[in-house]
Amino acid sequence: MRDSKQFWDKSAKRYAKSPIKDEATYQKKLAITREYVTPESRVLEFGCGTGSTALLHAPYVKQIIATDISDKMIEIAQQKAADTGINNVSFQQGTLDSLNLEHGIFDAVLGLNVLHLLEDVDGTIKQVQQLLKPGGVFVSSTALVGQLNVLFHCLIPALQLLGMAPFVARLTKTQLIDSLTTAGFSIEREWQPNRDSVFIVAKKK
Ligand SMILES: C[S@@+](CC[C@H](N)C(=O)[O-])C[C@H]1O[C@@H](n2cnc3c(N)ncnc32)[C@H](O)[C@@H]1O
Repeated sequence: MRDSKQFWDKSAKRYAKSPIKDEATYQKKLAITREYVTPESRVLEFGCGTGSTALLHAPYVKQIIATDISDKMIEIAQQKAADTGINNVSFQQGTLDSLNLEHGIFDAVLGLNVLHLLEDVDGTIKQVQQLLKPGGVFVSSTALVGQLNVLFHCLIPALQLLGMAPFVARLTKTQLIDSLTTAGFSIEREWQPNRDSVFIVAKKK
């Protein structure tokens, strides 16, 4: 966990400058997410990075708590919020374990490009389930590392040894959907913008 924080702290400035790889896909994910929120929604985003997505959703919801393990990411996010004058997003450093978040109060939880970076994916999905209101949604976007080809499977450990890649869970789409349904979610929407990632909206039953 400490290694992960160090990795993302070191990456924060570069991450903030990196452009969105596929703007059309990003816009479609924003639009789908907005179908599931209202101006009364309370939203939690974990692994929010430098906060761009939380700030884009802010005008459409009541309140967002956006969190990240990296305080360097959070510093950049807070500066962006100050620059844009958006005041219904509260950026907080921490993980779902360390932040004492109230259960059963969120209409939507967002975990975007983060589940595959966690050592306990099933545990995190259960925590998300507890944080949501009944009928609330978990919106996730996840790299399917378990479905990458052999070359990547050899490359990842080498990059990790050099400190150039973080921990990654070798998830497949089937495993992810099994974890969500086992935790008590129904799958509302499932979209694979490409072979290696999946965008899922899952509803708490
Ligand atoms: C690939 S970035 C994605 C950032 C943002 N969600 C996005 O889609 O651009 C992954 C983020 O997850 C954060 N992260 C990694 N492990 C975490 C954990 N256990 N709890 C919370 N955040 C974590 C990292 O600091 C980083 O900002």
